[in-house]
Amino acid sequence: MKVTVVGAGAVGASCAEYVAIKNFASEVVLLDIKEGYAEGKAMDLMQTASLNSFDTKITGSTNDYSKTAGSDVAVITSGIPRKPGMTREELIGINAGIVKEVASNLIKHSPDVTLIVVSNPMDTMTYLVHKTTGLPKNKIIGMGGALDSARFKYRLAEALEAPISDVDGMVIGGHSDTGMVPLTRLATRNSVPVSAFLSEERLNQVAEDTKVGGATLTKLLGTSAWYAPGAAVSALVQAIACDQKKIFPCSAFLEGEYGLSDICIGVPAVIGKDGLEKIVEIQLDDAEKAKIEDSASGVKKTNGLLEL
Ligand code: NAI
Repeated sequence: MKVTVVGAGAVGASCAEYVAIKNFASEVVLLDIKEGYAEGKAMDLMQTASLNSFDTKITGSTNDYSKTAGSDVAVITSGIPRKPGMTREELIGINAGIVKEVASNLIKHSPDVTLIVVSNPMDTMTYLVHKTTGLPKNKIIGMGGALDSARFKYRLAEALEAPISDVDGMVIGGHSDTGMVPLTRLATRNSVPVSAFLSEERLNQVAEDTKVGGATLTKLLGTSAWYAPGAAVSALVQAIACDQKKIFPCSAFLEGEYGLSDICIGVPAVIGKDGLEKIVEIQLDDAEKAKIEDSASGVKKTNGLLEL
């Protein structure tokens, strides 16, 4: 399995590190436009190999896409992250041009690649890749829900005073502060609905803390987070590499599912060797349906800013 990660910045390097440490990929190519940057990150990471016991070969490239040829999976993290006070949507002007060019270069050298889109505003960038590359829809996966769900589980475990491994929950909808839909009704602690332990008020607080999870970290760090984003991407890459057929909420191109069409937005999906193999439709109640529709209109508004 050959994996390319475009953008050797905070998220890209974290992703490469987690992929390597999990030891399922033979090769990771880090590519960045900044001269020498990807080569430096790759060398630094390779010098952890004997310490962290992995055999994955990590190489770096300054914008030479021939090095990415034959990639099975490519992750797009290139672009600018938000600063405190910014929304993800404000990044569209710069990131759309970068993502479009990067996707086209990747496909030129790896026509069978599965793309994982990370750059923000992620749902709109995933839609852009759909509209401009001609790749089949199972080969374009937007990463947002895997991260948002991990943040949801963190907040649930905190509220429940429970170990995270005892907690399950999912966030669907758009990857934005207002668009995320944490499914509190379906969250469980060891198969018991969390409503058995937490008041409605506390659960609403968990949902709100989850939705602003990225903004909270951006304020603390001065830039957006990287450990959990990198780990979330690596979990998707692993699910593809090892044909795990795990369910993650991912930004998928919808054609009628959840009553939505011509949009990429977070829905549960089975991830395996063929990429986004199946969209899972769960029965939402009326309040959840209204939230998803609201979230979708926000994503569509941002999509409207694209020059397609
Ligand atoms: P960063 O600034 O640390 O890294 C971005 C890298 O992209 C830089 O090294 C830059 O040189 C490179 N780059 C820019 N243009 C390029 C091009 N044309 N070709 C190749 N490389 C190029 O940013 P960070 O923190 O890694 O974030 C990356 C993106 O991921 C941002 O848009 C951020 O908002 C997004 N993000 C998305 C998340 C998600 O859940 N979908 C979570 C966290 C961040």
